[in-house]
Amino acid sequence: MQIQTTDNQAFRAQLAEKADLTGQVLEQILADQAGIPPRLKAAMQYMLQSGGKRIRAAMVLWCCELTAGKLTPAARIAAAAIEMVHTYSLIHDDLPAMDDDDLRRGRASCHKQFDEATAILAGDALLTLAFELPAQRIDDAQTAVRIIRTLAEAAGPSGMIAGQMADMEGEHTAGTLERLRYIHINKTAKMFSAAAGLGAIAGQASEQDVAALLSYGLKIGLGFQIADDLLDVTASSEQLGKTAGKDAAQGKLTYPSLVGIEESRVLLRRLTDEAVEAIRYFGPPAEILRRLALEMQTRNR
Ligand code: IPE
Ligand code: IPE
Ligand code: MG
Ligand code: MG
Ligand code: MG
Repeated sequence: MQIQTTDNQAFRAQLAEKADLTGQVLEQILADQAGIPPRLKAAMQYMLQSGGKRIRAAMVLWCCELTAGKLTPAARIAAAAIEMVHTYSLIHDDLPAMDDDDLRRGRASCHKQFDEATAILAGDALLTLAFELPAQRIDDAQTAVRIIRTLAEAAGPSGMIAGQMADMEGEHTAGTLERLRYIHINKTAKMFSAAAGLGAIAGQASEQDVAALLSYGLKIGLGFQIADDLLDVTASSEQLGKTAGKDAAQGKLTYPSLVGIEESRVLLRRLTDEAVEAIRYFGPPAEILRRLALEMQTRNR
């Protein structure tokens, strides 16, 4: 128990360090970016610096450190870029036309704090800037293109957008496990897979390492969304910083609604075991990624 607590604290400290670094990179990027109208910039900033966990960015940075032995400039850019795409996805996810959520990260969601049009445009701006950045700031053209491609494929119409579309179409339907898996893989897991892959690409990793980390990230990501579904049922809005109980109220197809809480936990454990297996050959240097996998089972926000 003591060991568990110590491990948790060490993990939290390492995540906090990566979250801080990502926050600094994002702040600098916005400061450097001339010509953004003040209200648009305020909305982008409001959402970028609102206490998100920065898990995807941390995955980029950890996977780069694992494969390159250090952080590369490309990894910093990729971490900021994926956090921008993720943040845009939350702004749009909360809009009245989508999940209609007034609370995000413990405060008013973007369209509540500003207005719907500004929120839509802040999302558009973050999504576009996320691709401008690597194109502009990663010196090695081949690395830049691979990063842009990996992020675009995960976030695009055969990735996250496909998942969000299916999530909307799946409301108030009976659904199957196959359909649910499709939704969660696309809306969430592909971005986690990309995060791990981006870190490896930014670290000039071997093809074998890139493939292993992509596979690890996909399993982590599916587990992350199952945990998100579980927390929606079991945690409070205060704890989550977003409205709890929303999935049932909106008739969402989720793991707890389809297979129940216990079976959802079993599936989550199995996925995190598989994620750990995918990176076993890295040995002790991958310890932080093993901790991240365990974190999927125990996270409470
Ligand atoms: C929320 O993601 C959206 C899902 C894919 C479940 P996070 O839980 O990573 O959100 P933040 O960035 O920490 O607020
Ligand atoms: C969101 O899933 C996935 C995205 C791509 C944004 P949810 O709708 O479950 O995320 P929360 O619970 O609002 O954060
Ligand atoms: Mg949603
Ligand atoms: Mg939502
Ligand atoms: Mg949710």
